[in-house]
Amino acid sequence: MGKAFQKIFITGASTGIGRQLALDYGKTGSELWLLARSEAKLTELAGEIEIAGGQAHILICDATDEPAFLNSLGTAQVESGGFDLVIANAGWGGRMRYPGDKNIDVLNQVIDLNFRAATQTLEFFAKYMVIAKHGHLVGVSSIAGFRGAPSAAAYSATKAALISYLESLRFSVRPFGVYVTDIRPGFVRTPMTDRNVVPMPFLMEVDLASKKIRRAIFRRRKRFTFPWQMAVLLHLIKAAPDFLYDFVAALTFGKQAVSGRTGKAESNSPS
Ligand SMILES: NC(=O)c1ccc[n+]([C@@H]2O[C@H](COP(=O)([O-])OP(=O)(O)OC[C@H]3O[C@@H](n4cnc5c(N)ncnc54)[C@H](OP(=O)(O)O)[C@@H]3O)[C@@H](O)[C@H]2O)c1
Repeated sequence: MGKAFQKIFITGASTGIGRQLALDYGKTGSELWLLARSEAKLTELAGEIEIAGGQAHILICDATDEPAFLNSLGTAQVESGGFDLVIANAGWGGRMRYPGDKNIDVLNQVIDLNFRAATQTLEFFAKYMVIAKHGHLVGVSSIAGFRGAPSAAAYSATKAALISYLESLRFSVRPFGVYVTDIRPGFVRTPMTDRNVVPMPFLMEVDLASKKIRRAIFRRRKRFTFPWQMAVLLHLIKAAPDFLYDFVAALTFGKQAVSGRTGKAESNSPS
């Protein structure tokens, strides 16, 4: 896939998909700006990237702390002089439980991270890319944005909103030579899915997911759902009547999981 991008910004780069993308782009010699809350993990990753031949700058920040986050985005913009590729990847699953007293907390945190911070990232850098008439903006949404997923009302809603946002953004920035890609992963083995209590069909390893995502970005795909088996399944699920969707969800995940009565409401604290 060559060294297509010289300067790259990634949120949620300390673990999982973001970390793997950073490492793989680093190996191609890219200069990276990586944002997350875990300083130790980002420092270790930056070391690995330098050994692999890339360059990495780390930004320790909670993306839901708006003033601090916008400040970090500004710092990255000034230091880099402008990005070729921006990946709004940070996200949290935020399982909800019924009955439960944490759902409003979870809801707020998921909205703030998965939608507010993701769209702020893209808007912030879109402004500079449009002026420079150059750049590629990527959002990591999810297959959970296709239909309301069990135990994940906040997560599904934010990913659906992000899918719509990315599609609209594409129309606005394309006349300025700026590309937009919506990455919609199925299940990928990361710390996020390690916490899952439901079955995960077609679970993919993170290195393969990174390869597929990077190829989709390289090809300037408008949207990319993977793995393909999940993409096919989801098109059927999207068109299915409600009674069939409910039946299949209960069959696959179990009635307790579908109603949010298994597992516990999670918290999203950095490790
Ligand atoms: N894995 C899957 O199966 C799957 C499927 C569909 C979509 N996705 C999407 O892919 C993206 C990456 O997920 P993943 O599976 O790689 O999850 P992950 O391993 O849990 O990574 C999440 C990343 O987001 C960062 N993060 C969380 N809260 C943050 C905050 N408040 N401020 C700044 N950074 C924060 C985490 O770093 P710190 O904790 O250090 O801050 C971490 O780097 C997410 O948007 C997710 O919704 C994943």
